[in-house]
Amino acid sequence: MEYTQIPGTDLKVSRIALGTWAIGGWMWGGTDEAESIRTIHAAIDKGINLLDTAPVYGFGRSEQIVGQALALKKCRDKAFISTKTGLDWQNGKVFRNCSPEFIRRNVADSLKNLQTDYLDLLFVHWPDPLEPFEETAKLLGQFLKEGKIRAVGVSNYLPGQIEAFRRGGPVHIVQPPYNLFERGIEAELMPFCKKNNLALMTYGALCRGLLSGRTTPERQYAGDDLRLIDPKFKPPLLGQYLEAVKQLDEFAWERFHRRVLHLAVRWVLDHGADIAIWGGRKPEQLDPLPEITGWHLDQVALHAIGQILAETIKNPVGPEFMAPPSRK
Ligand SMILES: NC(=O)c1ccc[n+]([C@@H]2O[C@H](COP(=O)([O-])OP(=O)(O)OC[C@H]3O[C@@H](n4cnc5c(N)ncnc54)[C@H](OP(=O)(O)O)[C@@H]3O)[C@@H](O)[C@H]2O)c1
Repeated sequence: MEYTQIPGTDLKVSRIALGTWAIGGWMWGGTDEAESIRTIHAAIDKGINLLDTAPVYGFGRSEQIVGQALALKKCRDKAFISTKTGLDWQNGKVFRNCSPEFIRRNVADSLKNLQTDYLDLLFVHWPDPLEPFEETAKLLGQFLKEGKIRAVGVSNYLPGQIEAFRRGGPVHIVQPPYNLFERGIEAELMPFCKKNNLALMTYGALCRGLLSGRTTPERQYAGDDLRLIDPKFKPPLLGQYLEAVKQLDEFAWERFHRRVLHLAVRWVLDHGADIAIWGGRKPEQLDPLPEITGWHLDQVALHAIGQILAETIKNPVGPEFMAPPSRK
């Protein structure tokens, strides 16, 4: 496993984080608690020390399972918990809410769910246009001083929004989407983070499973699974993405004796991200981990990958469909 220090903090975290949204069940067609706990333990045994969760993932369920897994393994002090705030819900409908009252209540609930008295990383999940960013930053800065949190992060923020936030308090880390098929951050956010020495912890390394190499046109998604509303998973767009996956898989095998899944995560780590979040909910999904470290993509390979993407993805679509609404 590779590790990195988050600038401005004493947190030395694994460059691959386990994403636990699916473990919460909501928008992933349900959860299996025992299997989820085994997955978290498998991640820790493989050197992952950073667990990404959020109150909204299963409306507390993901955080509770993470807390339980750490308590059972008695390893809270060896793991870094990354959770979030600023998304509220009512009758299963999610909306942005960065009011100070909500954030205080939400963070208190996270501490309880996670069976801990401090959070290593606290992200604002989505910018709330109805609350001044500086005020939210001041509140998180206060949590930092009180020792309630150890690092401040923002997720799904644009550079201008981060600048406004930083006028009220510190930011250490930024969490946007990034993978071979969703490269929107390369134009502005990535250079902004490099210039300002902010750690970049990106989500969706496997593009919700599309880059695992296991997605087929026949696979059915059940219940509230978000892939039912993801345009990439529907014809006609699915066809171009699966063709890209096929060509990337062939390339990965010919050049590196690796598969597309290894290539996809390696590409995120070698292409500007400090930390890649990998979503998993079954222990065996983490079996490919050892083959992701110990090698790198050189300039020739990065160029060849760029060409495959340019030739196969003629109508790219982004992850915008995931953005939650604001309160009004
Ligand atoms: N800040 C934000 O707004 C935000 C937004 C989205 C996600 N995130 C974070 O990022 C994490 C990961 O992103 P993501 O959930 O979009 O997922 P992802 O990492 O792009 O894909 C995860 C999915 O890929 C499939 N998968 C994983 N390993 C596999 C393997 N070895 N073989 C085959 N399939 C495999 C699994 O789907 P199946 O189990 O269905 O096969 C898994 O649920 C989330 O859990 C969350 O922590 C943050």
